[in-house]
Amino acid sequence: MNRKIRLPINGIVVFIILAGTVFFASCEKYSFVVETVNPVDSVHFKLVIQPMLNRKCASCHSGSKDPDLRSAYSYESLTTGGYVNLPAENSKLYTKVISSGHTAFTLPEEKLKILYWIAQGARNNK
Ligand code: HEC
Repeated sequence: MNRKIRLPINGIVVFIILAGTVFFASCEKYSFVVETVNPVDSVHFKLVIQPMLNRKCASCHSGSKDPDLRSAYSYESLTTGGYVNLPAENSKLYTKVISSGHTAFTLPEEKLKILYWIAQGARNNK
């Protein structure tokens, strides 16, 4: 007896299309919008940079590890320690923040804020 096994080709095609749709839809779902930072806007140390240092850095840089990034000491520590010299992209602070050991601590837009703050003169502004 010659029994032919018939593959449900139509079903397979429909399945692939549906699976593809779900796959791409799920990519869409997990994509996120990266906040853009305008290099022309002033980045304020006290309002923007220090709160970020408090959240992301001060747990480790709390006095015994240079630079001291706790709010009472960070500005002094960064400026006298030579971490925020120009050009900003070569500064010790920015190169550390984008280095492999430290890159995970900040988001891309936070790295940019640090870069622009240094490029704008690393002022102790509100
Ligand atoms: C989990 C602990 C930890 C966190 C969080 C952390 N650091 Fe560090 N950091 C270190 C250690 C350890 C070193 C010294 C070893 C090295 O250079 O990587 C260091 C070194 C540095 C240096 C270089 C110091 C020097 O004199 O060469 C800078 C600048 C720095 N960190 C900035 C930051 C900033 C800014 C943040 C927050 C965005 C941060 N760190 C978050 C642990 C940490």
